[in-house]
Amino acid sequence: MRNMLNIVLFGPPGAGKGTQSPMLIEKYGLIHLSTGEMLRDEIKRGTPLSEEIKHLIEAGHLVSDKIVFEMVREQLEAARSPKGFIFDGFPRTTKQAEMLDKEMADHDTKIDMMIALQLDDETIIKRIQRRAEIEGRADDADVSIIHTRIKNYNEQTAVVMDYYRAQGKFHFVDGNKTPQDTFAAICAVIEKVTK
Ligand code: AP5
Ligand code: MG
Repeated sequence: MRNMLNIVLFGPPGAGKGTQSPMLIEKYGLIHLSTGEMLRDEIKRGTPLSEEIKHLIEAGHLVSDKIVFEMVREQLEAARSPKGFIFDGFPRTTKQAEMLDKEMADHDTKIDMMIALQLDDETIIKRIQRRAEIEGRADDADVSIIHTRIKNYNEQTAVVMDYYRAQGKFHFVDGNKTPQDTFAAICAVIEKVTK
């Protein structure tokens, strides 16, 4: 088994996954794989899949497992001797989690832990509305789309926690605190698991 640190950073929309990732990358030398960023990049580049992706994202719905997984696989292949990966916003369905486990095993490695940021819906909505003014993401613009994203998270994505819980890899972190306190709590989990 290769000596790597592979972390699934999990949580509802606006939980702080994108905020925590750069700090973790810097501290642990990991590669950031955000499927949301990859999909937004597809749209920007106007690839053959971009219309379909744009339509789904702007409605707050998940993109198909197949499209998402192909993108992840490409990025995993492209990484040369990585120290490890942070998966941000992926896996988002049990099917994606199963595909990821298989892909990791094919590369002689594994997922070490899931760190799930948890916070209440009210805070989620407030944070996303604030970000809408700064970043202008299409799926942040309308509160009804934010509600759809939260609903899809609860109905299709939250179950992925059970998948990792069954493997003894699930860890919970309170996402309501400041970015610095949340980062310290995430690092404490990593130190405990890797010790
Ligand atoms: P994706 O880009 O993954 O978005 P998301 O999961 O909705 O999460 P966000 O990026 O909105 O939030 P975040 O947790 O990164 O929070 P952030 O740090 O920015 O996915 C977008 C869409 O793409 C999906 O809806 C779906 O359509 C599609 N998609 C993506 N992956 C897919 C997959 N695997 N399968 C199928 N479809 C997929 O923080 C939010 C805001 O709060 C920021 O302004 C930040 O500055 C602020 N903030 C962060 N932390 C704190 C804090 N501790 N205190 C106060 N403010 C904070
Ligand atoms: Mg994000």
